[in-house]
Amino acid sequence: MNDSSKDGRSPPRRPETRVVTAGRDPASYHGFVNPPVYHASTVLYPSAEDFLAHRARYQYGRRGTPTTEALELALQELEGPQCAAVALVPSGLAAISTALLSIIHAGDHLLVTDSAYGPTRNYCEQILTRLGVTTTYYDPLIGPGIAELMRPNTRAVYLESPGSLSFEMQDTAAIAAAAHAKGALVLMDNTWATPLYFRAFEQGVDLSIQAGTKYIGGHSDVMLGTISANQATVTSLRNTVRLSGLCVGPDDVYLGLRGLRTLAVRLDRHHKSGLAVARWLEKRPEVLRLLHPAMESYSGHAIWKRDFTGASGLFSVVLKPVPQNAVYAFLDELELFGIGASWGGYESLAIPFDCAPVRTATKWVPGGPTVRLHIGLEAVEDLLADLERGFAALAVAASA
Ligand SMILES: Cc1ncc(COP(=O)(O)O)c(C=O)c1O
Repeated sequence: MNDSSKDGRSPPRRPETRVVTAGRDPASYHGFVNPPVYHASTVLYPSAEDFLAHRARYQYGRRGTPTTEALELALQELEGPQCAAVALVPSGLAAISTALLSIIHAGDHLLVTDSAYGPTRNYCEQILTRLGVTTTYYDPLIGPGIAELMRPNTRAVYLESPGSLSFEMQDTAAIAAAAHAKGALVLMDNTWATPLYFRAFEQGVDLSIQAGTKYIGGHSDVMLGTISANQATVTSLRNTVRLSGLCVGPDDVYLGLRGLRTLAVRLDRHHKSGLAVARWLEKRPEVLRLLHPAMESYSGHAIWKRDFTGASGLFSVVLKPVPQNAVYAFLDELELFGIGASWGGYESLAIPFDCAPVRTATKWVPGGPTVRLHIGLEAVEDLLADLERGFAALAVAASA
């Protein structure tokens, strides 16, 4: 099964169909809908000669099995024709570090958005510095102005759009054009939108990263990272993954594949519920403003509307100034919103955050305490009732 019909005469299929059909080959598995979960290390060869010549469809568990291949091919089809291959790694952070390592050389310069996921910065500061790689952080809203920061040794520009705490929307196409004009590559963390809502390769990205832990898995029960490469980056990505010995356990690959099949329907619900909650929050007296790309009132909305086909369930809220203990009272009162890291599962989450301590290229001055919400698959009415109770607790704590 793939993007087109059996006789190749049907029109190209929509992404919602492709998440269901991509990477499937029931005929290879006795007609069963899904591939088996191959728990595998050794692959036996018919003869010594075949072994020495590596003559086998699969050579060793670490190098790939029908299970890993099914997920890789499915993701590749979803990314579109410019995607040359997808690599699976054990976490989203491993996807970030491996993608960076695959293109970097000693002495290179990197440009990384100031809004990047914190551990991305840590990798640049604590690992890449040991290779003599220097990183400059840039204003996520810089757009074509990135050209002025390019140096002769700038190897790559790294984006995360929107930023997963602060939600700045980046002009990916403009940044990519400026980077390519100077011979640099473009990497992007596309976890928030997934390839369903943001077509990274069509916007000029060379390596697109996802924490599969989030929406692909979708059930908060798996750690997974995916890296999608175009022709320019596929060989070095493949070599880096192979030479580093990276692979993912078969059960986790299977959970990723299983989650992927319902990605479109879950994301649609996350989008609608997230927007409904955000619109309700925007009218609350306790709220200063929303950081939600799909809200018309949001400064990054025009870019979202131009480049994205949907929004996921993750956004942030800036509260009107209250003492920090009132924010804690709000969060602690919530029953349906768990307090915890990560996002993209079926359940709602809420965390306090502050970007100010890590920013170097920009100042984070939101105007009040900030809370990030992940809107899960619960009924919106129940989530609003929960938030209402939280606000009541906030009022009590603020007036104490
Ligand atoms: C935007 C973003 N990228 C990458 C990651 C890392 O993913 P993982 O937790 O699978 O390592 C996270 C985790 O929260 C994230 O929010």
